[in-house]
Amino acid sequence: MQRLLETVENGDRIVYLWGLDAPVEENDPTGTADTVACLHLIQALAEIKQLESLHFFLVTCAAQPIHIDENPLALAQSPLIGLVRVAINEHSNIHFHLVDIDQGNDINNLALLLDELLADSPDEEIALRGTERHAHRLRQMQVKEPEPIAATPGLPYELESSTPGSIEGLHFREKQRRAPDPGEIELEVRAASLNYKDVLKVKKLLPEETLGNTFYGNSLGMEAAGVITQVGEDVEDYQAGDAIVASLPSAFSSYITVPVDSVFLMPKPDNLSYEEAVGVPRVFVTAYYGLYHVARLQAGERVLIHAASGGVGMAAIQVAQWIGAEIFATVDSPEKSAYLRSLGIEHIMDFRSLEFVDQVMVSTDGKGADVIISALPGEIITKNLAVLAPFGRFIEIGKQSIVDDKRLPMRPFNRNLTFSVVDIDHLMVERPGIFRQMLSEIRGRFMTLDFRPLPLDVFPAARIVDAFNHMADSNHIGKIAISMRGVEKLSVLPMAMEKTLFKPDATYLITGGFGGFGLEVARWMSALGVRNLVLVGRSGAATEEARRTVEELEKAGTKVLAASVDIAQEPQVERLMGGIDATMPPLKGVMHAAAVLDDLPIAELDAERFSKVMAPKGIGAWHLHRYTRDISLDFFVLFSSISAQIGNANQANYVAANVFLDALAHHRRASGLPATSIDWGAISEVGMAARDKETGEYLEGIGVKGITPTQATKALAYILYRQPVQISLMHADWGKLGQFNPAFATSPRFAHLIPDEALFAEDSSDKVLRRALQAMEPEEREEKVITLLAGEISKTLRIPTDQVGLHHSLPNMGVDSLMAMELRTALQTQFGVTITMLELLKGNTITQMATPLLEKMGMGESFGLSPESHPDTQVITAKEDAVSSYVEGEI
Ligand SMILES: NC(=O)c1ccc[n+]([C@@H]2O[C@H](COP(=O)([O-])OP(=O)(O)OC[C@H]3O[C@@H](n4cnc5c(N)ncnc54)[C@H](OP(=O)(O)O)[C@@H]3O)[C@@H](O)[C@H]2O)c1
Repeated sequence: MQRLLETVENGDRIVYLWGLDAPVEENDPTGTADTVACLHLIQALAEIKQLESLHFFLVTCAAQPIHIDENPLALAQSPLIGLVRVAINEHSNIHFHLVDIDQGNDINNLALLLDELLADSPDEEIALRGTERHAHRLRQMQVKEPEPIAATPGLPYELESSTPGSIEGLHFREKQRRAPDPGEIELEVRAASLNYKDVLKVKKLLPEETLGNTFYGNSLGMEAAGVITQVGEDVEDYQAGDAIVASLPSAFSSYITVPVDSVFLMPKPDNLSYEEAVGVPRVFVTAYYGLYHVARLQAGERVLIHAASGGVGMAAIQVAQWIGAEIFATVDSPEKSAYLRSLGIEHIMDFRSLEFVDQVMVSTDGKGADVIISALPGEIITKNLAVLAPFGRFIEIGKQSIVDDKRLPMRPFNRNLTFSVVDIDHLMVERPGIFRQMLSEIRGRFMTLDFRPLPLDVFPAARIVDAFNHMADSNHIGKIAISMRGVEKLSVLPMAMEKTLFKPDATYLITGGFGGFGLEVARWMSALGVRNLVLVGRSGAATEEARRTVEELEKAGTKVLAASVDIAQEPQVERLMGGIDATMPPLKGVMHAAAVLDDLPIAELDAERFSKVMAPKGIGAWHLHRYTRDISLDFFVLFSSISAQIGNANQANYVAANVFLDALAHHRRASGLPATSIDWGAISEVGMAARDKETGEYLEGIGVKGITPTQATKALAYILYRQPVQISLMHADWGKLGQFNPAFATSPRFAHLIPDEALFAEDSSDKVLRRALQAMEPEEREEKVITLLAGEISKTLRIPTDQVGLHHSLPNMGVDSLMAMELRTALQTQFGVTITMLELLKGNTITQMATPLLEKMGMGESFGLSPESHPDTQVITAKEDAVSSYVEGEI
């Protein structure tokens, strides 16, 4: 080797074909021996001091993933790719090129290879497939909102509010249908009732404390009527096929599974439709409980019912009529007044004017009302007290005055008045027996026709937003019901992805599960309903943090098997898998996050330190692959690193191991097995990058910011949902990256990601610009130069760039000789070439100036490359909040 190296001269091209003989699978699955051999060669070449322009071509065969369904990859060659990606950054005196040829001995392929070896392509990574030439580019992905789907009969969904405070933000979202457990029933909802409280909740007009400890909490929809579809064990009073009316949370759903004992059910009265029946419980219990039980309204007494045309008001009218009381009603419009008159009510007043006080007193010969039932807030409450007869009872059913904590004058109470609040949400929680009793009594009154269904506006589910607006405008009389029977024109957003990811009756394995990031993932999975976790590390739950987290997980109902296993040791892996198989529910997902670091430059790396880092990642992944090959997994996720793409200096061993993980994901996918490799950027707060403060600060300085664990798990949800074969996630300031690391920024793999302002910034050197331009396609290059020229001219002329005419000459645009001198200096600095005044002022337009300028820079002609296509590598760049904003959809 030494003798050979002595013959190497500047300009030589070294072609490394040894990688082609990398062993397959069992011998040395991660190709460590071959990678180390190549490492030694690079070390030796780097020692040759005077070398400046040596070209090193590493040829691999079918080791770069080009088409997702390509044949399984030559895995053992992939770490060589990682090694060279680092060498590119560590040894700028050698021009490294990766050329991946197709399988087979196609003569065209070999001819293309020869072209590649002889060309001076700026591309560092090329793959040749048939007659195609593929160049490696990292591409940014866009976040897309998920498209709504057309609802179909049988689709489970529920109402959701996506924009707090706005009715327009209401939509239905697909959910999971759940078979009933013992003591539960599943209800297929035919109709749901809309109550004013739902409107207040959507509009965020009810403070959290008024919803706390109430039966419905923050959920939308309080009543549903429908048919029982399934009944769990131990349910005695109901069976499939029963038509029922239920008071339960989240009623705006197509299917609901609930425990019978914790909700309020009654068989639907036969003489009522689902839409008529659904609104009965809430308004009738309020009126019945308020007037009959609390106020003890008697026949012949006078009752003042405020806002009597609403749901509770209309129910109160029926209860009062049934009792035989004399009714005084208030409304807020002539239409509502006319409607009540048509029901035979004589005393109807307008509550907006407060004149009702005098009107009641006049109509009752100054005696006043014995009972008042009202939800109206403010001054009207005091007025009501003035209208109450001695021993009068005031039933407050509104929330507003209570929320506002208003004061009551005490003097009126001298007449033995009673003030009672009726809030049936609290009644349901604290006196459920009373609520049940009343439901049963009210049902009886419907059967005997004492009570009748209220007037009703029915909206189909597809128009639920209109229904909410209708109620918010208080335009309705009686009740509003949502018919859930038809799905015509109903759009439903796809299920929130987190909810679909894990199964409660499955086991999930996280290697490196006691590490910083592993524990975060474990917590997140547990919160999403994972009930069986296997966490693996060589030393088990050895740290305080690991022990505490395991305890927390167990408390939260997740059974944790904390295993001390070296994933790189096959017998230990075999035992682990056997144990899971024998004692736990079926294994459904693997997250491979085990890793160790041992950073050092290529010059100091040796076989031992290479293997040490390759073992947990590469060998570990290989064992997991082999021992789960025959199991039907939902996912197999490999925690790789963005360093695999960038080729971080000093991390050749780590990068090689991560590239192996990326390759394994493609390899498995091509074999029809689930696999996703995630090239994580630096994670903040926990894990290996956060532990090393210095590195963290350095990364931040060069434009790589940390991804918070919350952002990371949100992204993980998306990734698990979509299951791309390989994806990168980093929080990058590409501008900074471009300025601080020209070698990286001007690589054709990444140059297109660097924003122009950064690449062509005043403090960037002409070398950076030159390399950036070299990395581009000829047309793109010319376009960039034109943009740059326009930018400089706009600065000289002090006008916005978009006002610079690309087809005008500089003198035409008003550039005089003094300005031309200023411009010349700026352009010379930017482009690193000499420009004469004549060239600027001879009358060429900006577009005409671009080509000669590029020629001066030695880039006048194309590099003779054929168009590229791109391997399936994608990058998600997380701007400040991009990671959190993707959650609803695609990145
Ligand atoms: N944190 C980041 O910023 C970041 C960025 C990109 C990628 N990643 C990747 O994300 C994964 C998790 O990273 P992290 O930050 O959580 O690292 P970490 O805190 O260092 O945890 C790694 C864990 O792996 C375990 N481990 C090492 N060798 C093992 C082996 N042979 N068998 C079983 N377990 C082994 C270690 O436990 P024992 O020592 O007890 O075995 C350790 O708990 C790694 O794969 C890493 O490459 C992390």
